[in-house]
Amino acid sequence: MKNILVIDDNLVTLQQINSQLDRNYEVTLAKSGMQALTICCQIQPDLILLDLDMPDMDGFETMAMVKKNLALRHIPVIFLTSTHDTDIEAKALKNGAVDFITKPADTDILLHRIEVHLNLSAYNRQLEDMVRVLEDSIIASFSDMIEYRDGNTGGHVVRTAQFVNILAKELMRREQFRNELNDFTAGMMTRAAPLHDVGKIRISDLILLKPGMLNDDEFQIMKTHTILGAEMLRSIFSKVPSQPYHEMAVLIAECHHERWDGKGYPNKLKGEDIPLCARIMSIADVYDALVDVRIYKRPMSHADACRVIISEKNNMFDHRIVEAFEAAHERFAEIRGLPVT
Ligand SMILES: [Fe+2]
Ligand SMILES: [Fe+2]
Repeated sequence: MKNILVIDDNLVTLQQINSQLDRNYEVTLAKSGMQALTICCQIQPDLILLDLDMPDMDGFETMAMVKKNLALRHIPVIFLTSTHDTDIEAKALKNGAVDFITKPADTDILLHRIEVHLNLSAYNRQLEDMVRVLEDSIIASFSDMIEYRDGNTGGHVVRTAQFVNILAKELMRREQFRNELNDFTAGMMTRAAPLHDVGKIRISDLILLKPGMLNDDEFQIMKTHTILGAEMLRSIFSKVPSQPYHEMAVLIAECHHERWDGKGYPNKLKGEDIPLCARIMSIADVYDALVDVRIYKRPMSHADACRVIISEKNNMFDHRIVEAFEAAHERFAEIRGLPVT
C-alpha cells in the first residue's frame, strides 16, 4: 500500500483527512513541518499532502526543505489548504508542488487526484531508472576508455569506486558526517567516482604513457586532467536530464587532487573548502596508486601504503577520513588481494 504523509497543524483536520484516505492508503500524520521532515527521512512517503498556514515552518518552507533534500526531492507534494488565493496557488506550483487542492476536499476528488499524481510519479521514477541504467553503461564505457589509455591501471576506476563506498559508509557512522552522508549521498559518490580521471582522455599519450617521471612542463599539463575532466562532464551532463550525482561527478573530477593543507591542484583549495566527495576520492585514489604497479614505479605493500596515508593526515588528507581508512584498511587490502601485514 502506498504511504501518504499528511502535514497539518490542526489535529481535527488531520483526523478528518486520515479518515478520507485510510481505506486506500497507509497514512502518516505530522502536525508540523519539522516533524514531517523527520518522518520523511524515516519512511520516505510516496506523496505528501501539505497544509500552507502552520506556525514555525509554513507549507512553503516545509516544501523547500523537502525539495532541498536530494533523497526526498522526488516525492510529489500536493498543497491542501483553505486559501482560495490564486497568487498563492501559482507560487506553490512554481516552487515545486504538483497540485493545489482547497479544503475541505471532496473525498472522491481527493482520492482521484492523489491517484493521478502517484501514477505520474511512478512513471517518472521508471523513466529515471531507465536514464540511470543508460548513464551507468556510459560511465562504464568511459571508465574502460580511461583504463585503456592509462594502460597500467587495470581495474583502477572500479576499485577506487569500491574504496570510496567503503570510506563513505565508514564515515556515515560518525557523528560529524551524519548531515552530509547517508545511503543516498554515499551511493552518488560511488556512482560518480569512476569518472574522476575522465580528463586524462584529453592528455597526450606522450605524457600519459611516459616511462619515468614527468618533467615540470609535462606535470603542468598532466594536472589539467582535473579541469578538463570537469569541463567534459559539465558539457556531457548539460545534454541529458539532470541527475543528483552529476554535480558530485564534476566536483570529484575537478578536486580529487586538492590537498587538505591547500598545496594541491588545480585550485589550491584547503580543508573543508574541498568538497567531501573529493576528499574521500583522493584517499581512495592515492591508496590504489601506491599499491599498484605503474609505468614509472613498483607497487608498494599494503602496510607501507597505510603508513604513507597515515603520515599524510592533515597534510594531504582530511584526518577524519584517514581515521575512517584506518578503521577499514583491511577491506582495501582484500579488494586488492593483498596481505594486510
Ligand atoms: Fe587524477
Ligand atoms: Fe585515479
